[in-house]
Amino acid sequence: MIMINYINKLPKAELHLHIEGTLEPELLFTLAERNNIKLKYDSVAQLKLAYQFDCLQDFLDIYYQGASVLITEQDFYDLTYSYLQKCAEQNIRHTEIMFDPQTHTERGVAFETVINGISMACIDAKEKLNVSSLLIMSYLRHLSEDDAFKTLEQSLPFKHLITAVGLDSSEKGNPPSKFKKVFEASIKEGYIPLAHAGEEGPPEYIWEALDVLKIKRIDHGNNCLQDQLLIDEIIKRDMALTVCPLSNTALQVVGDLKNHPLKKMMELGLKVTLNSDDPAYFGGQLNQNFIEVQKALNLTKEDLYELAKNSFQYSLLSDKEKQTNL
Ligand code: ADE
Ligand code: ZN
Repeated sequence: MIMINYINKLPKAELHLHIEGTLEPELLFTLAERNNIKLKYDSVAQLKLAYQFDCLQDFLDIYYQGASVLITEQDFYDLTYSYLQKCAEQNIRHTEIMFDPQTHTERGVAFETVINGISMACIDAKEKLNVSSLLIMSYLRHLSEDDAFKTLEQSLPFKHLITAVGLDSSEKGNPPSKFKKVFEASIKEGYIPLAHAGEEGPPEYIWEALDVLKIKRIDHGNNCLQDQLLIDEIIKRDMALTVCPLSNTALQVVGDLKNHPLKKMMELGLKVTLNSDDPAYFGGQLNQNFIEVQKALNLTKEDLYELAKNSFQYSLLSDKEKQTNL
């Protein structure tokens, strides 16, 4: 109980969060009804039964289906504001939100609809909830680099609303080097490069994300532990890993939370942060990730404080903005 109170009160930032992955089953049903979309599932309970995954691809198939109920600007606003309210409840003071434009533009929803709905919710949450946020536009790696270039182009009128680019979706068979040119072009436009790497993919994909895509932070990165030279390099470059424990167990990246490498990463000197990834699908918001991992790995208050401190330290906030939170 003491630890739970400590966690709940700890000011923290969330650095790895897919807005489409915050779509709770209840809201999913509400939006389906609002938009006259027929679902494969008859009830929230039935839908929840489908949330059993053997691997990342299993999850992605359901996640993209779920996102198909998002049609209007109001839908994206409601989705985002609902997540930001949860941030306020958990004392998440700052969040860096990933969104996947291609998941929506592929279905005929305009880029503008997506970004307007999400960013209006972010503006309102700053004012009403005192939660700050910034946006990471993620390219879907199972699609082509040409497709990512189209997305980059579509984003340019909204550049002032987007801080960084990311790379997500099916990792195996889609190495970072596939996106070399579009990351170069994104950097030229002023976007900060980030990428998922080493969630299911090998350490070589993390090397490529570092050296080819020039990323500034590694999403997941678990598999760096298979390569001591890579660990040394990540430490040398002072790069953080955005680790997602409940995602890792839900997607069978890690069999049991008790065997999660988080503590080992910290002991090796890696800079790690805790995150929820897709909380509506993986059984817990950010504080639940803290609570469960604390219990499983016997983390001390000092460990928890370090994780929370890292979350501000390795955020994309300016040094001045970081100071107000640290
Ligand atoms: N998209 C949403 N969640 C993801 C994850 N954990 N890995 C890759 N792509 C994702
Ligand atoms: Zn992710």
